[in-house]
Amino acid sequence: MNMRKRPEAKGEAHGKLILVGEHIVVYNKPAIALPIPLMIRASIKEHPGEVSISSNIYTGNLNGMQGRLLGLYKCINEAFWRCNKPVEGLHIDITSELPDGRGLGSSAAAATAIVRGIYDFFQRSLSEEELYSLVELAETYAHGKPSGIDMMTVSRDGPIIFQKSIGALPLIAPCALYFVVADTGIVGDTKKAVNHVKNIKAQRPFAIDSIINQIEDIVIKAKEAVLRGDLILLGDLLYKNHEELKKLEVSHPKLDHLVEIAMNTVALGAKLTGGGMGGCIMALTKDMNDAGIVSRELIREGAKEVWYFSTASKERYRLSSELNEG
Ligand code: MEV
Repeated sequence: MNMRKRPEAKGEAHGKLILVGEHIVVYNKPAIALPIPLMIRASIKEHPGEVSISSNIYTGNLNGMQGRLLGLYKCINEAFWRCNKPVEGLHIDITSELPDGRGLGSSAAAATAIVRGIYDFFQRSLSEEELYSLVELAETYAHGKPSGIDMMTVSRDGPIIFQKSIGALPLIAPCALYFVVADTGIVGDTKKAVNHVKNIKAQRPFAIDSIINQIEDIVIKAKEAVLRGDLILLGDLLYKNHEELKKLEVSHPKLDHLVEIAMNTVALGAKLTGGGMGGCIMALTKDMNDAGIVSRELIREGAKEVWYFSTASKERYRLSSELNEG
């Protein structure tokens, strides 16, 4: 057996933003997603005894991970087994810039960062397929029956168009895209939102299928808009997508309020992003200056935290309702 290991190793992953197509992607329809430059980092160190974890959501032994953390527990155990190592002798410290339960992919990013860290610690190479199969274990417990878009986006460097039966393909815009992401401060529940759509689809199949088809049409047009760099059209499509998501009953009055605020300032478009029923909105702007204007207005109007960034540079900013930071 190969006994190589490092005294310390690291793994990281960024969060994700769904640009268009959340929820319909569960029904094998396309969606577009991109990285948000907020990181989760796992630092792995040798530590005698049971595997232990420290993080902002759980601190304790691996065996104590229960409830919604059961998937992550299974994922970590499986990663050890696949590396042919006994599940012992490590401490995993997780630090996160991503708020939890806000539709920004924190569960997929945490699992990805940890798996990468464990494989690095044992100096094993990690294929994309192996990473996805491990992260899927964590995601299945966190989300029920995830489409896979979160784990695909958190491990890739750029925007993707994703469909369950096809997988992820890169989607490259000819220009920089500027985004604002605002947190309502309300914890969303993706599993609950996905189940809600499933239930109303069973009760009103014709009406809900027609909304799903409308959103699919939005995604197809948004793909063309991204490829052409047509920001005006893309903005319109984001707002239309939000209107359709409201009909799927996954929005929330605070999400709707922040979307309207963004639209009434200088955003080109805005919508909820991710599972909804809380969580975050995203807005598209023409440049970083406008992103700053929209962000400040969103904070004034009740957003808990706002981030804005460009897809073309490492520049990113954060504003908080508690204190404003550059
Ligand atoms: C969650 O980020 C996106 C949803 O479409 C669920 C999924 O695709 O697994 C709501």
